[in-house]
Amino acid sequence: MVDRTVKQVIVAHPTSDGAGVRLKRSIGTEMLSALDPFLLLDNFGSENPDDYIAGFPNHPHRGFETVTYMIRGLMRHRDSSGAEGLLRPGGVQWMTAGRGIIHSEMPEQTEGEMSGFQLWVNLPAAEKMCVPRYQEFEPDAVPLVQPADGVEVRVIAGEVDGVRGPVNGIAVEPTYLDVTLAPGTKFSSDLPLEHTAFAYVFQGQATIKNDKVEPDQLAVLSDGDQVRMSSTDGCRLILVAGKPFGEPIARYGPFVMNTTDEIRQAIEDYQQDNFI
Ligand code: FE2
Repeated sequence: MVDRTVKQVIVAHPTSDGAGVRLKRSIGTEMLSALDPFLLLDNFGSENPDDYIAGFPNHPHRGFETVTYMIRGLMRHRDSSGAEGLLRPGGVQWMTAGRGIIHSEMPEQTEGEMSGFQLWVNLPAAEKMCVPRYQEFEPDAVPLVQPADGVEVRVIAGEVDGVRGPVNGIAVEPTYLDVTLAPGTKFSSDLPLEHTAFAYVFQGQATIKNDKVEPDQLAVLSDGDQVRMSSTDGCRLILVAGKPFGEPIARYGPFVMNTTDEIRQAIEDYQQDNFI
């Protein structure tokens, strides 16, 4: 087995998106414009309603997938295909925008903490114009694996100890784990050798192989077929991996295609109401 190591650390950058939702962005920044096949990672979160209450009103997407994973709070999503649902802590929505979808994600709370992650996952050229698809899983549909005392792993996608996450049929063959380590515990996970992988720590401090990773830091991992992590004082992180495509990326706001002509077409289709 080849252990993955930390090859780059990105400190998440405070910004806002939607109608003024405060968040910390790590992928999709000047430091790391993309991490093939991942295009963006936002960790939204605040206890102050002013930082999230305006939510993410209607906006379009084409050419990739948006993944929302809730840590705390409630968020209602609606989209132009007629899908609607309420995201609760531990629940996940994996939306394949494909040829085009318009959606909104709005907090369904007026006080208390709301936090979670939004990840953008690219689609290969051959699937960018696919029919939009939508997968949503309630918290109890996301299996919890406890490989050792004090180690809890929620398997959103991929496999841990023979337990598979519910997300299926995704081009990048993703792994998406929510890992909680109690003080003094460790965890190792197999990952496909050729997949791009990162860990994002959002509570406590993790040690990946020999490197410490602090809260609000994204650790880009080297190639390898397993990752070993531990924590002296306890931590929580997401561990994500996926197959890179190595294709050109043309990007304009909520549209991610392969060429600027395709971006022009996306804008035109959206302006002419040719999205669903
Ligand atoms: Fe969106």
